[in-house]
Amino acid sequence: MKILMVCLGNICRSPLAHGILEGKVNKAGLAITVDSAGTNGYHDGELPDPRSIDKANEYDIDITNQRSRQITQNDIQEFDFIYVMDSSNYNNVVALCNSPEEISKVKMIMNEVEPGKNISVPDPYFGDSDGFEKVYQMLDLACDKIVNQLKTKAI
Ligand code: 4NP
Repeated sequence: MKILMVCLGNICRSPLAHGILEGKVNKAGLAITVDSAGTNGYHDGELPDPRSIDKANEYDIDITNQRSRQITQNDIQEFDFIYVMDSSNYNNVVALCNSPEEISKVKMIMNEVEPGKNISVPDPYFGDSDGFEKVYQMLDLACDKIVNQLKTKAI
């Protein structure tokens, strides 16, 4: 099973989602690959934003092994679930899909917590550090739900 976290730049939100889910999956002993990517490729090859690195560190998660990269059509074939942070990411990823089956892999991540509401994880890039704490808390809840579902599937 392979799960991809996606945001716009792959430096703020999706690296946090990637690190949080990876930690929970490892703790649960599940054999699941987690990765992340951005829709715009603007920060290709860069480390996560220092504010995301610091936020992850606060919760004992190291995301400094991650480097930003742009999502590809191959990713959509290869990954089983693609979690996006907001509706703009959703539209951009769906535009890369080649079939209804591929489109069905793409999910708004907060729908795991509040199904059908299409709540966005707000882009914290231009805000202050409070935005990163809010993003962390939202993603922590969503990743708990994802891991609980994966546990029932894996058994
Ligand atoms: P992210 O935040 O999508 O959560 O990684 C952003 C980072 C960079 C930009 C936009 C959003 N940017 O346009 O440079």
